[in-house]
Amino acid sequence: MFKKLLGRFSNDMAIDLGTANTLVLIKGQGISINEPSVVAIQYDKHGQEHILAVGQEAKDMVGKTPGNIKAIRPMKDGVIADFNVTEMMIRYFIEKSHKRKSFFSPRIIICVPYGLTQVERKAVKESALNAGARYVYLIEEPMAAAIGAGLPIKDPNGNLVVDIGGGTTEIGVISLGGLVLSKSIRIAGDKLDASIANYIKQKFNLLVGDRVAEELKIKIGTAVPLEEDLVTVVRGRDSVEGSLTSIEVNSEHLREAMKEPIREIGEALKSVLEETPPDLAGDIVENGIVLTGGGALIRGLDKYLSDLVKLPVYIAEDPLLAVARGTGKALEEIDILQQTSYED
Ligand SMILES: Nc1ncnc2c1ncn2[C@@H]1O[C@H](COP(=O)(O)OP(=O)(O)O)[C@@H](O)[C@H]1O
Ligand SMILES: [Mg+2]
Repeated sequence: MFKKLLGRFSNDMAIDLGTANTLVLIKGQGISINEPSVVAIQYDKHGQEHILAVGQEAKDMVGKTPGNIKAIRPMKDGVIADFNVTEMMIRYFIEKSHKRKSFFSPRIIICVPYGLTQVERKAVKESALNAGARYVYLIEEPMAAAIGAGLPIKDPNGNLVVDIGGGTTEIGVISLGGLVLSKSIRIAGDKLDASIANYIKQKFNLLVGDRVAEELKIKIGTAVPLEEDLVTVVRGRDSVEGSLTSIEVNSEHLREAMKEPIREIGEALKSVLEETPPDLAGDIVENGIVLTGGGALIRGLDKYLSDLVKLPVYIAEDPLLAVARGTGKALEEIDILQQTSYED
């Protein structure tokens, strides 16, 4: 009763703690934070860590920092690389969006990468409690993605969602409000960026950083041949001569560069389909497959996957926001919450 009363006054929060981006949604108010999951740390002469920046400001420092500053992506590969920095980041985002908005401490539901261990989940939970949360629930990412994509997850009907983020691709088959089958692989946006940088080095002797590679991916990248190639100019350092130079690359180069990681995402999807129980597989044939996460925006990926598995593939509305939206909906519907979150 008292708890119920408290709940009415506090601004409960949903957090999508992604490997590339963190989003915070305040109940009844929508998305309040949407920033890269990056922390810039400065080391003083005693070797102590100090936060210099978090989010976009910190991402802008990546690859441009002097020796005593480090820009860290604490969850980069879907595991917690640095517990301290992860806690700093979670606290920062919670405090930033909660500032003086409410007298009572909020309930927080956090969607974490699916591959996190029990120890890592506990650390995330404790970080949020330390930041002032009254209750912390965790939700599995494929489930949040499916809710956010508007799939009827509570029905006795199989649905398949593929969430392609920065560090991980998570594939889930959902029926009756539960995750029937799932797979998480560490091949997603970051791997595509690395493959692009590598290809450009091999083919053009040009050294480019991950950020330039990411920009190329977004600007002209494609998973299938395009009717008309997209072209752009890239600047970087000649790996042989050491001089600064620029070259022209097109979408066919990008397709070639991203071919292998995209093939692996396709293989993971195929293997999940092969393991899906026949009745649910029948549902998926009818319902199709839904893509969420930033990777859903890769040009032609829907067509590539659809041709590969011979099923319809759809892109969720605003795929970069799907998990945050789903986590926010779970916050409103306590019955979904109880079925999908786990207390440890
Ligand atoms: N238009 C786009 N085309 C291709 N990839 C994109 C696009 N927009 C964002 N991305 C990629 O999506 C990834 C981030 O997706 P997101 O769902 O936020 O990841 P996470 O949930 O792991 O934080 C990054 O690798 C980014 O480069
Ligand atoms: Mg995500």
